[in-house]
Amino acid sequence: MNWRKLRTFLLTVLVLSLIPATRYYQIDVPLLRFLRGSRRVDPLSLHLAGEFVENNLGTEQDPDGSVTVRMIAQQYLFVPHCILVPAGIPVHLRITSADAVHSLTFDGTDYKVKVLPGTVSEAQLQFPHPGEYKMPCREFCGAGHYAMRSELKVVPRDQFPALQPEERGNCAAR
Ligand code: CUA
Repeated sequence: MNWRKLRTFLLTVLVLSLIPATRYYQIDVPLLRFLRGSRRVDPLSLHLAGEFVENNLGTEQDPDGSVTVRMIAQQYLFVPHCILVPAGIPVHLRITSADAVHSLTFDGTDYKVKVLPGTVSEAQLQFPHPGEYKMPCREFCGAGHYAMRSELKVVPRDQFPALQPEERGNCAAR
């Protein structure tokens, strides 16, 4: 038996088995953060710095005409509470969680986005017609899970550019 090979093998098994452990217990390992790159975010400082600060949430028009929507899932609400997107235009969703695992869904569609703390979940969505969709959480996340929902309003694409940024970000009052 070659002891050097065995030792290398055992060390490899040990290191590989540590990777799922860090994921499960949300341990912050600099190497893993480096490997995951920009999809890694700190769930404890979402409101303080980075992509998910409050005035960056909601819908933003991209230079190519598509839109990007940024949201935070937290017990027990999605922020913003209501979002607005244009019909028939690609929507890039970027969402992260401040606490537990949530799942953002859009009633009447097959879209389902799992949201984890520490990671940015991305999805490409598109809504062909104006309308309103309930966006309930479909992953049990605690006592308030069943009341956790946001709303999506899809407006005609020619109406969208005329809206003020604050109207796009939070349409709950409309
Ligand atoms: Cu969030 Cu269920």
